[in-house]
Amino acid sequence: MNSAGILAASAMGGFPLVARAAAGESAPARTASASSVHRIILDTDPGVDDALAILLALRSPELKVEALTPVAGNVPLDFTLPNALKLLELAGRTDVPVAAGASTPLVRRLVTAKAVHGNNGLGGVELPAPKIRPVSETASELIRRIVRANPGEISIVAVGPLTNVATALRADPGLAQMIRSIVVMGGSLSHGNATPAAEFNFYVDPEAARIVFDAGVPLTMVGLDVTRKALARQEHLKVLDAAKTPVCDFTAKILRATMARWSKDGGQSVALHDPLTVASLVDPEILKLRDFYVLIETSGEASAGQSLGYSGGRCAGPLRWKRRHPRNPPKPSGQMRKSQWKWTQSVSSGFCWGGW
Ligand code: BDR
Ligand code: CA
Repeated sequence: MNSAGILAASAMGGFPLVARAAAGESAPARTASASSVHRIILDTDPGVDDALAILLALRSPELKVEALTPVAGNVPLDFTLPNALKLLELAGRTDVPVAAGASTPLVRRLVTAKAVHGNNGLGGVELPAPKIRPVSETASELIRRIVRANPGEISIVAVGPLTNVATALRADPGLAQMIRSIVVMGGSLSHGNATPAAEFNFYVDPEAARIVFDAGVPLTMVGLDVTRKALARQEHLKVLDAAKTPVCDFTAKILRATMARWSKDGGQSVALHDPLTVASLVDPEILKLRDFYVLIETSGEASAGQSLGYSGGRCAGPLRWKRRHPRNPPKPSGQMRKSQWKWTQSVSSGFCWGGW
């Protein structure tokens, strides 16, 4: 178990920079000094919202994407791997290495989310077959090599099942001490979406989630409690349509397909779980974080993949609930600093700016 900064509630507001992009005005270029750029490995199972998260990360000057490491999740690896390559080509970022990750969870049979993401993982929207190839290393090997070459510098942003990250940590016991932070889209402190108890990414590979949460790396869990509130709506689609660029066209198509397939409100909105997770690094003030000890349930018939959060004082349960990892002691609760319009602003900038 580990302590994890978690979630933020937020209220809906406007999205001024999207409107500006739609009006054809040039958006102010955002820059980041070399020393403030956050270097990340993006571990992902694209996936409609993963695709948007990848595009956002690639487009954000605050982030440097060192690698994409696709994993089986929303759809099998046979799709998530080529999807990652296709998205890099769409974004003109073929410089980013891609390494094939795990095709199955650590011990379980793969469960996918084709009903949400379509059979190809991109809502049925087709991109050209990729010309670029993955590197010869596995995802676990590439994660270890990049982190070991840059101790304390690299954060892992994981927006799929945690199989690749757990495999790397298990293969290399010294690795955890060298990772700057892990930011996870997954889990919930309320109810799940794969089962009443479990969020999808943790449900697919609970054993991997347990390994990652217990590794002692500073960890932020961006769970359903907040990502459910991060909604793309019809008005965002209109803005994307108006931009008339290949990336915005593609983004609008996959969002539209997902709204039609899976929206809970008659096709009006879809939750952007993974983009919010990336956005929390682009602008760390977007989310209000609280500290919890988090235990990932691995054994329950109905509760496998559940994330149990505990923020109280001492409790009389098993010792693990009281353990405080020296690298990651609980911190005081933060306060909400920005409302959702700021989030939408950051996310939109990833899709629409800069001639994409
Ligand atoms: C998570 O599950 C996947 O379907 C999404 O891509 C996201 O990472 C939300 O529960
Ligand atoms: Ca995902």
